[in-house]
This record gives sequence, C-alpha cells and structure tokens, in this order.
Amino acid sequence: MQNVTLHDKSFRPFLTEKEIQDAIKQLAKQLQKDYQDSNPIFIGILNGSFLFTADLVREFEGDCEVTFLRMASYEGTESTGDVQTVLGIKEDIKNRNIVIIEDIVDTGNTVEKLYETLSKEQPSSLKIATLLFKPNAYQKDIPIDYVAITVGNEFLVGYGLDYDGLGRNLKDIYIIND
Ligand code: IMP
Ligand code: MG
Repeated sequence: MQNVTLHDKSFRPFLTEKEIQDAIKQLAKQLQKDYQDSNPIFIGILNGSFLFTADLVREFEGDCEVTFLRMASYEGTESTGDVQTVLGIKEDIKNRNIVIIEDIVDTGNTVEKLYETLSKEQPSSLKIATLLFKPNAYQKDIPIDYVAITVGNEFLVGYGLDYDGLGRNLKDIYIIND
C-alpha cells in the first residue's frame, strides 16, 4: 500500500481491506446472534456508510430490511457541530428493531441527532453499529452498542470516508500525514 494524496493532504496506510473485512465479519456475528429472528431494519447513514452497510448486511443471514438516511456535519476535516437531517426514511419503524449503521462515530453529534429523531417514532429497540469509533473524541452518553474497530482522533479516509468528497472509493483506510 502506498500513500495517497487527496486535494491538498497526504495520507498513509492505516487499515487494510482484509482487516476491515475481518472486523465486519466479527460484528456481523454479534448482530446475527442478537437479531436473527427479529427482522431488523438496518439504517445506513449516507454517504459514509454505503460500503460498510453493503458488506455488513451481506454477512447477516435471515430476514432484514435495509434503508438509508442522509445526515451532514462535516466540512473539511473538522466537525461543524451542526448536524442536519437531509433525507428522511419512508419506512414505518414503529415497533421494529432498528440498527443505525454508521461509518465512524467522532464527537457523537450525528448519532445523538439520529437517536433523538428515530426514538420519536417509537421503535421497539434502537441500537448503533459503527465501523470506526473515536472514543477520545466522543462527547455524548448514548451507548455505541456495536463497534468494529476503535481508533484514535486522527482524520481517516477510505472505505466510504471522505476528505471533501474524495477517497470514498478506496478499499483500504488511510490516516492523515501531519
Ligand atoms: P460526529 O457527528 O462528530 O460523530 O461525526 C460523524 C461524521 O463525521 C461521520 O459519519 C463522518 O461522516 C464524519 N467523520 C468523522 N470523523 C471522520 C474522519 O476521520 N474521516 C472522515 N469523516 C469523518
Ligand atoms: Mg457519516
């Protein structure tokens, strides 16, 4: 693996495709155990979790529904703290088991907003699954129920994660060079 340059910044290899896929398989096993007979709705948060959601749900055996929500809180490499729902879901989530699928949980602003919004619809359960979790940046009390990989505070790109629109298509994950 080689360094990549996106816009004005360079990034070095951090997690290989294999490490990512192995971690997803482990997380899928936990979801399988907890949800296999309950027809959960997996809600992927766009754009970042499109690849993770696709890979995760393919490891889940049994009935499940998959849908997507769009949120936004990032400009460049820093959270703006201003989270907005851009695109809603049409599925009825009342009395259903819901799993929010995030690419990365950083400050927690996004999951908090999602949690508040979706709770109002009275799902029978509401949990959060994330590929990457930055515990040292996290500022909220909502439990992050399923974490594939715990990371530090550095900015990452690849496998769905972008730097100002670029890098989502990379198979591996890269860390910023400073
Ligand atoms: P939060 O609201 O601060 O938790 O940030 C969540 C969102 O910010 C994620 O869903 C990502 O879209 C984005 N984000 C957070 N950290 C990174 C990163 O290291 N690289 C790329 N995007 C990130
Ligand atoms: Mg995101």
